[in-house]
Amino acid sequence: MEKYITVNGANGIATITINRADKRNAIGYCGWLELRSIVSNLSEDEHCKVVIFTGAGDQAFSAGADINDFGLYRNNKANAKTYAAAFEGALDAIESLTQPTICLIKGYCIGGGCELTMATDLRIAADNSHFGIPAAKLSVLIGFKEMRRLVNLVGQGNASYVLLSGRRIPVTEAEQMGLVNKILPLAEIDEYTYSLAREIAALAPLSHRGHKKLLQTVLNANVSHLSEADEDLIFSNFSSEDFQEGRTAFIEHRLPQFKGR
Ligand code: COA
Repeated sequence: MEKYITVNGANGIATITINRADKRNAIGYCGWLELRSIVSNLSEDEHCKVVIFTGAGDQAFSAGADINDFGLYRNNKANAKTYAAAFEGALDAIESLTQPTICLIKGYCIGGGCELTMATDLRIAADNSHFGIPAAKLSVLIGFKEMRRLVNLVGQGNASYVLLSGRRIPVTEAEQMGLVNKILPLAEIDEYTYSLAREIAALAPLSHRGHKKLLQTVLNANVSHLSEADEDLIFSNFSSEDFQEGRTAFIEHRLPQFKGR
């Protein structure tokens, strides 16, 4: 199994890096499992005060789920459920970290990459960043928790814009809608983010832990769970012709021809 997610730590700040720059740091099924395992280990590390997530290189934070993987791991409803457990397991583990989490974003931050950032506390983006959730270009749906994080962060109107347009959103627009906390010139973002991390690391862990817990309680107060039918809706798309078409079209570098079935 190819391993491309690394963790490095110094002075209470752990950095988790997606090291797959030649594939724009796209994350495969095994990558999500690896990420969950790394994050779960960090949650028990009392020396770790802040966790930074980033992607190797300047071109991408992450282009999301590895689409080349879908033929094997996401090619029908049953497999898609297993895949979702790995993906959501990683994002849930990130969201559950008791330490403050920061995304240091350069370049493309798309699909599952964008959804990953929404499971963290803060998003600092370089001025070359682009965001987007192009699920409708592949005829798939984002999950319930990912939808909740998106709406909580940017509101209904912006969430609809992101999902219905499938557009690549420049960082200035992403900041306006609340997807990004701050924009920095590419040359300055590392220094800024680590300085912020040091500042946060020096503050009270109990306050951080308590604020994070309270925030989740407030955000999730009115939502219980999806009905069985809605749950089914999310996964049914993985058995559709259009999903196969969207996936194949991406691999063949052509526009997909969707049929609505
Ligand atoms: N899954 C698998 N491979 C991916 C990928 C993904 N999500 N995103 C990029 N790659 C691969 C490309 O296939 C290409 O591989 P190759 O060199 O072997 O052909 C390589 O990464 C570089 O991608 P390329 O498209 O040439 O780079 P770019 O800088 O022109 O564009 C993106 C970058 C991110 C805009 C573009 O790659 C893209 O749209 N990716 C798909 C994003 C997406 O739809 N994610 C949602 C998944 S649910």
